[in-house]
This record gives sequence, C-alpha cells and structure tokens, in this order.
Amino acid sequence: MDVLPQENKEPMLVVKDLHVSFAVMAGKVEAVNGVSFSLEKGKILGIVGESGSGKSVTNYSILQILDKNGHIDSGSIRFEGKELIGMPEKELREIRGNRIAMIFQDPMSGLNPVYTIGNQLIEAIRTHDKKISKKQAFDASVEMLRKVGFNEPEKRMKQYPFELSGGMLQRAMIAMALVMKPDLLIADEPTTALDVTIQAQILDLLKDLQKEYGMGIIMITHDLGVIAQICDEVDVMYAGRIVERGTADEIFYHPAHEYTKGLLASVPTLEEKELNPIKGNPVNLLDLPKGCAFAPRCAKCMEICLKEYPDEIGVGPTHRVSCFEEVRKLTEEGIIDPMLPPQGKKPTKAPSPTSKKFEKILTKGLETGKEEKNV
Ligand SMILES: Nc1ncnc2c1ncn2[C@@H]1O[C@H](COP(=O)(O)OP(=O)(O)OP(=O)(O)O)[C@@H](O)[C@H]1O
Ligand SMILES: [Mg+2]
Repeated sequence: MDVLPQENKEPMLVVKDLHVSFAVMAGKVEAVNGVSFSLEKGKILGIVGESGSGKSVTNYSILQILDKNGHIDSGSIRFEGKELIGMPEKELREIRGNRIAMIFQDPMSGLNPVYTIGNQLIEAIRTHDKKISKKQAFDASVEMLRKVGFNEPEKRMKQYPFELSGGMLQRAMIAMALVMKPDLLIADEPTTALDVTIQAQILDLLKDLQKEYGMGIIMITHDLGVIAQICDEVDVMYAGRIVERGTADEIFYHPAHEYTKGLLASVPTLEEKELNPIKGNPVNLLDLPKGCAFAPRCAKCMEICLKEYPDEIGVGPTHRVSCFEEVRKLTEEGIIDPMLPPQGKKPTKAPSPTSKKFEKILTKGLETGKEEKNV
C-alpha cells in the first residue's frame, strides 16, 4: 500500500475523478460523473445540491457501502495517503469502524434494532479504545447523549431504537458517530429531522468537537443555512458533478453558476411565502447529455453548452466554476485572453497555454453568446 512520506503530506482525504454507476433494468444510472475534491484535517466541507445530484452516493463510495448494484467505475479515493478503492475488506472495516464515521440520512441504517442505545454506544467506544473499562465507556456514552441534547441520558441508554422518535434516533446516531472520535465525519443531512434549537445545539457541538479532535467533516445538506454557519468550503453538485466550489462567502455572495443561483433563490424567506424551485426537471441519469447537464434548464444556455462539458475555471481566489457563460463573461472583460485575432488580424504574440485551452470553447462561446438562447 502506498503511503506518502510525512514531510510531503497530502490532505487527509483526496477524491479524484470519481465515477460511480448503478446497474438497473433500464440500463446504467450514472450517479457520479467525475467528482474531485479534497479535505484537510480540521476543516468542514459542505456539499449541496438538488435531490438525486449524487451527494450520498459520492460519500457512500468513500466508505464503499454502495448498494449491491452500485459500482465504482474509476477514480481514486485516498484517505491519509492510502488508496481506499481496492483496499481489502478487512482493512476497510478497520477504517470504517475507527477512522471514518458516518451519520446516515436514514437514522435506522446507522443503528442496530436489536441492541439498546447504551449497548451500541459502549460497544462503539470499546471497539475504538480497547483499554477503556465498561464503566468508563458507560459514563462517556451518557455524557455524549447529554451533549447531543438528551435530558435523561441514563434512561435513553436502556432504550431500543424503536422506542425513540425520528429526531431522537438522529441524535442517537450522531452520538454513535462522535463517541468514536473519528478523524473524518461524514454527516448526511444530520439535522433535517431536528427542530431549530436542537439543530443549533448539534451544529455547535460539531464545531466544538471538530476543534477538539481536529476532525474533518463532510456535511451534506439541503439546508443552505447550515452550510453558511459552519463550512470552510462549499461544493455544489448537479448530475453527479461538482459544478461550483468556493468558500461559503464566495458561493453565497457571488454565485457564478446559474444552478447555484437557482438553489439560493429557492431558499424560502420570511417575506416570500411561496417556494421558488428551479424550473425544469432534473436530468435523466440513464441518458446523460454530452454537454452541461444543467443546460436544458439554464436561462443562459448557449449552443456550446449542449455540446461540450466546460472545464472548471477560477473566478475568485478559491472560487471555481464549470460554466461556459462564466468563460464568456471573463473573456469579454479581458480576464481570459483567448488570443482571437481582432477583426481578422493575426495575434501579435503566441497564445498562452490557458488561452490555447480555451480558444476553441471561446470562439464558439462568443459566436453563440451574443444571442443567448433559452432552450
Ligand atoms: N441502488 C441504486 N440503484 C439505482 N440508482 C440509484 C441507487 N442508489 C442511488 N441511485 C441513484 O443515484 C442518484 C444519486 O443519488 P444520491 O442518493 O446520491 O442523491 P442525493 O444527492 O444524496 O439526493 P438526496 O438529496 O435526495 O439525498 C439518484 O438518481 C439515485 O436515484
Ligand atoms: Mg442523499
């Protein structure tokens, strides 16, 4: 197994060009189509996107807990310098149990129905730290249940999952994940079933523990408010791809992709009583288009968007987007130089590698960009 030397440490988690699909009767569901991102220790990454955009599947792939018909077709997932794809199941189990914890979207999938909450917490702690006594593990479990907002933790220790409400189950699962003191916590919609007060309490707890343990967190959520509160970086997913990424400020104050703008506009406000979802239907993952999957729903769609997928370009210090409209705008502003001959004249200097790369895109983009077509 390849391990990088200490002095040249890569981020704790590095996902590169991940492709994941599911075999179904009708064909192949292309759920993840070239996702790349990384996460440093002690940082929080938020993943947002419409339902079906591939948020959960991307993260299930990290733990390799996909449904039976799912398959990682290509790509790389490195955790602390070790490749997880192709790692023997025994080693993976060790990582799942001790290093990476997951809070599932469906709380029941993270808890065993035949054991009490207390038994499961104690077991999780003792698996992680074999030297700890049963009494110490009991006390630590009670303490964690209190931290996730239970008033009578001792009583909850004796209960079975079916005796708890949805919100309680979600908190019990958060407690299960946190008692392990994981290096990486993947939280899939961790606060959706919780009321706002408990939600705020859980977010504070996650932030505190993240500082205390230096834990890295991937936070998947529909709730852009949660993202704004705690995330260092936000990745926006559509049709199994990250279409825009940046700090929460970059994404919220300067969204570049029309899809991100649509997601932000669909957040209900106190003034607007009606929900304002993005128009059009999500793309059919059984038959992905060649170009940008959002193009058919995009008000700024150009011809090129239907034919090619845009490379990711930088639009701010840490802000990147895959969108031809942004390429077109930056070209007009002279920020990206396509080295097109002005009025038929030849360029006076040799094209830079960037301009070469964008030349084809830009020529087409500018041709069609003047008349923005709504398809
Ligand atoms: N076992 C499966 N068989 C077929 N398709 C699947 C399977 N599991 C997931 N998919 C498909 O993969 C796509 C991505 O699903 P995923 O669960 O990652 O979406 P998501 O972004 O987490 O959505 P949500 O916000 O609703 O949780 C969806 O179209 C989903 O239907
Ligand atoms: Mg999901």
